[in-house]
Amino acid sequence: MYREAPRDPTRLPWMPYRVWGWRLEFGLIVVTSVALELAHKYLGHMGPDLVGVVIVGSLIAFRKLRRAIKSGIVKNHREIRLQAVLWSCEVVGRAGTLPVVKSVKELPAGLTYVLGLPTGIYLESLERQLPELAVGLDARSVRVRPSLETARVVELTVLRKDPFARPITSPLLTAERTLLWDPITLGTGEDGAPVTVGLVEHSFLIGGESGSGKSVALASIVGAAALDPHVNLTLFDGKEVELAAWRDVADRFVGSSLDEAVRVLEDLQQMMNERFHVLAANRRRKLQRDDVDGLEMVVIDELALFLRGGERATRERFAELLRDLLARGRAAGIIVVAATQKPSHEVVPTFIRDLFSYRLAMRCATRDASDTILGQGWAAEGYSASSIDPAQRGVGFLLAEGGVPVQLRTANLDDDEIDWVVERAIELRRV
Ligand SMILES: Nc1ncnc2c1ncn2[C@@H]1O[C@H](COP(=O)(O)OP(=O)(O)OP(=O)(O)O)[C@@H](O)[C@H]1O
Ligand SMILES: [Mg+2]
Repeated sequence: MYREAPRDPTRLPWMPYRVWGWRLEFGLIVVTSVALELAHKYLGHMGPDLVGVVIVGSLIAFRKLRRAIKSGIVKNHREIRLQAVLWSCEVVGRAGTLPVVKSVKELPAGLTYVLGLPTGIYLESLERQLPELAVGLDARSVRVRPSLETARVVELTVLRKDPFARPITSPLLTAERTLLWDPITLGTGEDGAPVTVGLVEHSFLIGGESGSGKSVALASIVGAAALDPHVNLTLFDGKEVELAAWRDVADRFVGSSLDEAVRVLEDLQQMMNERFHVLAANRRRKLQRDDVDGLEMVVIDELALFLRGGERATRERFAELLRDLLARGRAAGIIVVAATQKPSHEVVPTFIRDLFSYRLAMRCATRDASDTILGQGWAAEGYSASSIDPAQRGVGFLLAEGGVPVQLRTANLDDDEIDWVVERAIELRRV
């Protein structure tokens, strides 16, 4: 039968239970005392000294032992503190038992507890109590995720610091070079850890209001491609100024001219077809990392300008060529990354928009605008880029490998930093 937890945690069987948090310290004291006693009894008055030397010597010699004791003590105390809050928030199983902490992982911005749940508590019931737990734990926010093994185990993440408070330094500034076949770092997540995405075999759509940080996000992606000398870069810049700094490392650069854009897309389509012929001749289905042909990155900033500008026949040709690259380019090693303010169907036809596999929604004015980028329904589930603080530029929701949007702040690259990356990229490509 369900036992209601008392509301006042200070009146609990809980106070003696607090002592349980000190079990490792008590255990160590008892074991040491018994060892000293026995040593005295069997080895005479030198016995305790000998035991003392062995204990201190082991602690000095074995770092792993020191660490195990320290992490055990820290874990027990954290468990007790967490359980006190769980109790006061009435997160108590049917038999009156509390979740147990199986392990604790430190995060740059907080902690993740792996919890074993008693019967009566489950993921959804915990989710309902998260706002109350955040208050009890004095945290910025608390998240819960299922573990993959069993419904009995969940991961409770308690976030204290705000990792988005300051701009994120780009890892490209310290990277000697990159390998685009491996995941690239886009920025920092809510837990303070780096957020990475594997771009190979994917296409990426970035949306958000003016000044939300789309072009800065693109810079991290273009920079990662530029520092891999085997990657060919094609840049389309409807505004002419956003990607201009990368011009010297780009194999093809298109400004606002739609005719030129169509010509370059035709070139890319031809290159794609040739790659498919070579693959077919070698009985292979897709490009691989040791192939002579490198990855092709196609970056389009201000996509709307190409899809809305110029003559109708030309923009329809542009749309059709882009659709073809998105639909078939994956296996040929073509990665399309595009940014635009609001990719509503009047601006970006759905037959193009729906082909982008990864989405990044920077701040938007409305929930609808956020859903236009991430896909229908995410705002209702609590993932809306309209909730982003306009003062924190570069924060967005990324929908990629995990299948659920994650919040991140993209790494910042200012003009001088971009110049520095470009210089190194040119050098790498010269060799
Ligand atoms: N990740 C970030 N960290 C810190 N500052 C950022 C970040 N992203 C953007 N900003 C700031 O916001 C400004 C605008 O960003 P950006 O030019 O990328 O916006 P945008 O979305 O491309 O806008 P538009 O649609 O007008 O082109 C940048 O100049 C920079 O100062
Ligand atoms: Mg821009």
